[in-house]
Order: sequence, then structure tokens, then C-alpha cells
Amino acid sequence: MRTVRSVPDLRQAVDAWHADRETVAVVPTMGALHGGHLSLVALARQRADRVVTTLFINPRQFGPAEDLARYPRNEAADADLLREAGVDLLYAPGPDAMYPDGFTTTISLGGPAEGLETEHRPGFFEGVATVVAKLLLQAGADDAIFGEKDYQQLLVVRRLVADLNIRTTIVGAPTLREADGLAMSSRNAYLSDAERQRAATLHGVLQETARALVSGTRAADAVAAGLARLEEVFDTVDYLALRDAATLAPLDTLDRMPSGSGRLLAAVHLGTTRLIDNVAVDT
Ligand code: PAF
Repeated sequence: MRTVRSVPDLRQAVDAWHADRETVAVVPTMGALHGGHLSLVALARQRADRVVTTLFINPRQFGPAEDLARYPRNEAADADLLREAGVDLLYAPGPDAMYPDGFTTTISLGGPAEGLETEHRPGFFEGVATVVAKLLLQAGADDAIFGEKDYQQLLVVRRLVADLNIRTTIVGAPTLREADGLAMSSRNAYLSDAERQRAATLHGVLQETARALVSGTRAADAVAAGLARLEEVFDTVDYLALRDAATLAPLDTLDRMPSGSGRLLAAVHLGTTRLIDNVAVDT
């Protein structure tokens, strides 16, 4: 596996593969890789002849009070994992390569970016959309793989690519979970042992609430019961919300779901760690 840090080097590699009629999939990451990322790489390998992983901790998606400074960084360990996973090329640009002096263009969003994460992390999706648009245009890959763990992000990226006619197909990959159901995430490393034990309740409550909804409990009652349970276990609950799975429009009943399926999404805090998760609600 080769590591490149500049756009011309990245493009040269991808263009050469395309000239040989090989397909290319890209897996964007911020490093601190875990099994969840490796499952995205595995899906990329199934779909394409060549796999590029990007590693860039994007300062523009961290709020002033967020964890940019303490975000785990270990490029050598990440590179070892990617090499073993069969990645062909690691693209790891520095901040100056991504945002050189004079950089001013950003992307403003609506639709699936409204509410949920945006209420609690203003500016987050503008930062994500800006860097993802850059990474996709830089790489020119055929497919890009994003985890369903960040479900709102996945829909924001799908909208972005459709609206800006970016020629990469966005592929969603199922969330990988620990044995007790906790969604794999780089931020799980921040949890103390006691917090780690409480953390799995998030997925448990999402599943219980989804079951209640499917078995006919009124949406408002099922969500209120789930919220109450989350509030017992977590230090702060940002939201538990039932949305349409395709648009993230709010749903107040499973009887009228424009896309035919729902998604239940939640965000909570344990100490200084914020956790998000979501599950499908299919009738
Ligand atoms: O999900 C992530 O790790 C990041 O938000 C992404 C998509 C790599 C953009 O920085």
C-alpha cells in the first residue's frame, strides 16, 4: 500500500487504474480506525478492483468546544490496519493541502441536514459536506462507502452528491457492533470502564423503541418511553427521534411513511463523550 499526500499524486494513481479499466472505491475516514472502518474497506473491496482510503481529521467539522485536540491520531497504526485489509492507496493530506491559504468556499445545506445533529452541532454538516465534496472530487472514484452509524451524515452526503452532480456512487454500509450492541466508533475509546458498561443501553433502547413502534404503540408514547429510559442511564440526552428513512422528515406515525420505512435516531452523552446511534423501523 502506497501513501500519498497531494491531489496530483492521488489523481495519478486513480487515473492509471481507470486507464486500465479498473474500478475504484474510496473510504473516507478521520483515522483512529476500528472494525467498523475495516468493514467499510471490506465492502469497498467487494465492489471495486482498487480501494483508496482517505485519512484526514477535518478541523471544519469540529465545533469550538469539541474534541479536535484530543481526537485520537496514529497514522502508522492506521496504515498497518489498512495494509492488512488490502487497501491499495492511503491518501493522507495535511491541513494545508486541504485548506490552503485563501480557501473560502463552503457548502450550505438544507433537507436531511436540518435538525437532529445540526441542533446540537451547528456547522458540523457544512464542515462534513465541504470536506467530502473535496475528497470525492479529488479522488474521482466510482464508489464511496459511508457507514450507516452516521445515518444523517450518509443522507447529507447522498443529497450533496445528487445536487452537485458528483460522479461517485454513495454506498451505505451497515453498522458494526460490539458483542453487547454498542456501535463501533472511534470515540468509544474515550469511555471509562463504568461508562462503557452503560453505553450499550443506547442500542438496547433504540431496539426496544423500534419493537414498540412496530407492534403498534403510538409513536409519541413509544418515543417518550424510550427518552425516559435514556434519561435514566445517560448524563444528557440530545434527542431520540423517529424520522422517515429516506428524507429524515419527522414522522408522527408509522402509518404514513413517505419512503415506506422509518429510522429511529438518538444522541446521548456519557461524561465528556457523545454517542450517536440509529436503527431501522420497518413495518
Ligand atoms: O465519518 C467520518 O469519519 C467523517 O465525518 C468523514 C466522512 C470522513 C468526513 O471528515
